[in-house]
Amino acid sequence: MRAMPGPSGPRWSVDDVAYDKIDRAAMADKLDWFYLVAASSFVEILSDLYARNLGDYYAGDEEARDWLAHKWEPEEMQHGEALRRYVQAVWPDFDWQRGFDGFRTDYAPYCQTALLGPTRTLEMAARCVVETGTASFYAMLHVASPEPVLAAVAGHIRDDEIGHYKGFYRFYRDYQRRDPHSRFRVAREIWRRVVEVDSEDAFLAVKNVSIVHRPGSVFTRADFRAFRDRIRAWMRLHYPFQSAVKMLLRPLDLPAPLQRITVPLIVRTARRIV
Ligand SMILES: [Fe+2]
Ligand SMILES: [Fe+2]
Repeated sequence: MRAMPGPSGPRWSVDDVAYDKIDRAAMADKLDWFYLVAASSFVEILSDLYARNLGDYYAGDEEARDWLAHKWEPEEMQHGEALRRYVQAVWPDFDWQRGFDGFRTDYAPYCQTALLGPTRTLEMAARCVVETGTASFYAMLHVASPEPVLAAVAGHIRDDEIGHYKGFYRFYRDYQRRDPHSRFRVAREIWRRVVEVDSEDAFLAVKNVSIVHRPGSVFTRADFRAFRDRIRAWMRLHYPFQSAVKMLLRPLDLPAPLQRITVPLIVRTARRIV
């Protein structure tokens, strides 16, 4: 019997968020924030699809499936719900449902059980990469937000994402014990997923925000690159590179001296790339 990761029950509730206290004037003209928060709400709410895929992939592992269904999925859904309500409170003219429906249709083909893996151990390592990405992203929103209610929501989500990382990491360790993979193989998988983090879901989410927000206009890859470059300027200022790199490397279980050399090196490189 392995230890169940994380405490049960949500740490916070979307019903406790002070949507009536939002400083709307601080956000009204912040177009990049609108795109970022709306696109994030789409990706988070689609977690029911991801959860089903992961549940299928880990068929027979009742502990993992139970955690995914009763801890991970409800928390991810709550992230989407909290962000959706925020978007609707600040930008009420935006037809959220239409944007989300478009995103779901566009993204569903990319979201298949067949794309998971290649092994259960490596998929758990890959999940750690994804949760590192989301934890770091919401940590950035938490400090960069020009509006306090959004900062608070982002802080709650960041804490949950760190909890998810810990959950997947424990499952990873457990699989690694039963079905060991070489450090090289895990590193290769982590790298593959890091490169992938910037992939289709972000593009399609932002594209579908744009389709609803600017009817009749075409959203191109170049538009997305321009948007991403503006977000990178925030990242240079606010992204928690140090903790992100440590979280990414943790599944490799590097000897301490090697870790001391590697972490600052990768942090410097990541900052340069961003
Ligand atoms: Fe989330
Ligand atoms: Fe998460």
